[in-house]
Amino acid sequence: MSDTPSKRLFIKTYGCQMNVYDSERMKDVLRPLGYGPTDRAHEADLVILNTCHIREKATEKVYSELGKIKTMKEQSGGRMTIAVAGCVAQAEGEEIMRRQPAVDLVLGPQAYHKLPEMVARASRAVGDRLETDFDTLEKFDALPKARQADGPTAFLSVQEGCDKFCTFCVVPYTRGAELSRPVDDLVVEARSLIAQGVREITLLGQNVNAYHGAAPKMEGGDEWSLARLVRHLSKIGGLDRIRFITSHPRDMDEDLILAHGDTPALMPFFHLPVQSGSNAILKAMNRGHTREDYFEIMREMRGQRPDIALASDFIVGFPGESDKDFEDTMELVDTVKYAVAYSFKYSQRPGTPAADMFGQVDEAVKHERLLRLQDLLKDQQTAFNLDCIGRTIPVLVSGTGKRDGQLHGRSPYLQSVHFNGPTELMNQIVDVEISAATMSSLTGEMVRVREAMA
Ligand code: 5AD
Ligand code: SF4
Repeated sequence: MSDTPSKRLFIKTYGCQMNVYDSERMKDVLRPLGYGPTDRAHEADLVILNTCHIREKATEKVYSELGKIKTMKEQSGGRMTIAVAGCVAQAEGEEIMRRQPAVDLVLGPQAYHKLPEMVARASRAVGDRLETDFDTLEKFDALPKARQADGPTAFLSVQEGCDKFCTFCVVPYTRGAELSRPVDDLVVEARSLIAQGVREITLLGQNVNAYHGAAPKMEGGDEWSLARLVRHLSKIGGLDRIRFITSHPRDMDEDLILAHGDTPALMPFFHLPVQSGSNAILKAMNRGHTREDYFEIMREMRGQRPDIALASDFIVGFPGESDKDFEDTMELVDTVKYAVAYSFKYSQRPGTPAADMFGQVDEAVKHERLLRLQDLLKDQQTAFNLDCIGRTIPVLVSGTGKRDGQLHGRSPYLQSVHFNGPTELMNQIVDVEISAATMSSLTGEMVRVREAMA
């Protein structure tokens, strides 16, 4: 293994946190081959675009970026290797090389462990250039167990894939069936991160609360739920904060709700996408739950942690969405009161059932509905942040701010917090008294440094 990288790797990541995690793992798998990261694409020997297929816009961005990288490849005298990874790779396969012949490799999300072999083959210009098989466990088994941590926070992928088949969504086709990683493997990966100074781990999964990982060597059953995994990880010394994203209302279990009340390391932030507030639309989306089910989960969650930050995803203009359906969404938002939310115009994805449904909504109507929804969500986000003024909040410091002497970190509610302090406070948990807030961040003054919980 070489310590000084002899080749430069540039990865650009699009889309969800799962892709952010996968990009980190691609770096891990390529490190032994002498690839070290660079943030300048034109200097790179290997450029990887880790892509997202969720909406049409995300996919088109990839092709326009590929156009730019092709020019860099020409300027490099052809030295550069270009790989397209992620969900566009899975969904479009060879079509990518047809649309952009400068691309050397195409590999889906379950094939990252094969990257070294594919890169070697590409440099010899022999063999397959396309790898889009579905074998998620093989991927995790083959990736290096040790992780390279980068700062005090890290992602840990616990579950991949989705069997829910929401009628608008490509994920079940690009990421395959739901699969949970075994508990043992996760504990090894978590310990490796914590040993390198990681204090906050975010457990990732497309339907993370559907987690049911094999735990043959553990006490208390052969299969563990997410709540059980969280409780176990919370006992590892040095790990102060645990989060998980993203959940599905159908997979909610009582113990996970209770854990928010009795496990201090589990942060008070809960992201539960609802997509729509109309029962008719939820049915057409094949979500498998009603708005009433959703209200009940959110009510119970607040019962355990009254201060919890609630988050969601919304789609406006799903086929057949009437004015009344949209008003139901507005009313749901008004009732729940979110700390943060992501909202999108419905985007027709080829091959998904909703793409062929009657009643596709006019672009102008989608646009107008999105603006109204986003106005309401922005007001709620601002109100949530303003409510923090005067409170003293623990902040995990992860970087410096834009201004001199300024530090940046995250509150338990995942808000961005800025305050002045020495850089020695990096990676520490610091109590900050909040003095000002905007929609996107908080500012305050340091009160004291907390000891690690361990
Ligand atoms: N159109 C618009 N938004 C979508 N999402 C998923 N598929 C689509 C689509 N076809 C949104 C959902 C999901 C988030 C990750 O992306 O809100 O929760
Ligand atoms: Fe897509 Fe629905 Fe699965 Fe989420 S639950 S990944 S929206 S199909």
